[in-house]
Amino acid sequence: MATQPETDQDFPIRVNFVCLGNICRSPLAENIFRSLVEQAGLEAYFDVLSSGTGRWHVGEQADARMRQTAQEHDLSLEDHRAQQFQAEDLAAYDHIFTMDKSNLKDVLALDGDDTHGHKVRLFREFDPEPEDYQVPDPYYGGADGFENVYGIVERTARMLLHRLVEEHDLEDEMTSSPVAEA
Ligand code: 4NP
Repeated sequence: MATQPETDQDFPIRVNFVCLGNICRSPLAENIFRSLVEQAGLEAYFDVLSSGTGRWHVGEQADARMRQTAQEHDLSLEDHRAQQFQAEDLAAYDHIFTMDKSNLKDVLALDGDDTHGHKVRLFREFDPEPEDYQVPDPYYGGADGFENVYGIVERTARMLLHRLVEEHDLEDEMTSSPVAEA
């Protein structure tokens, strides 16, 4: 267990990654981001979760194809169980990163009086090569779609952590940089 942060900021920083089913893209983002946080020695500063705007897969494991692709990169998604994003999560999280524009719209629709909209952003805003700013949904495609998603999520998560470290003044707490080898 890492030592407790000694600053006047509110830690841990609560981060929720959101897709549609919470069985492909957002569980991957959650686990890659958490792994990067651990590599940087920042686990005391972040609380990381993922969820889906839909409820069809609640309680299920991540999609077998996504688990396989992650495993090929030495990342386990075995402990993941899908959950649905709830309106209360808008208040409970500091940062909500959606995988596509449809997820963004669905999350913002839960923010009736627009209190929390500033916390909700497209994940690929942080991608150095953002294309259309969306992580493509691999669910109905072939195996190469999952590998493509892995590459997008990995490079975006590195840059996202780098930016959150800056935003929350955590530079001096890091043991290694998420973008050192990028
Ligand atoms: P995800 O992928 O949003 O990345 O978890 C999907 C999972 C399930 C479905 C669609 C996308 N579905 O239609 O059930």
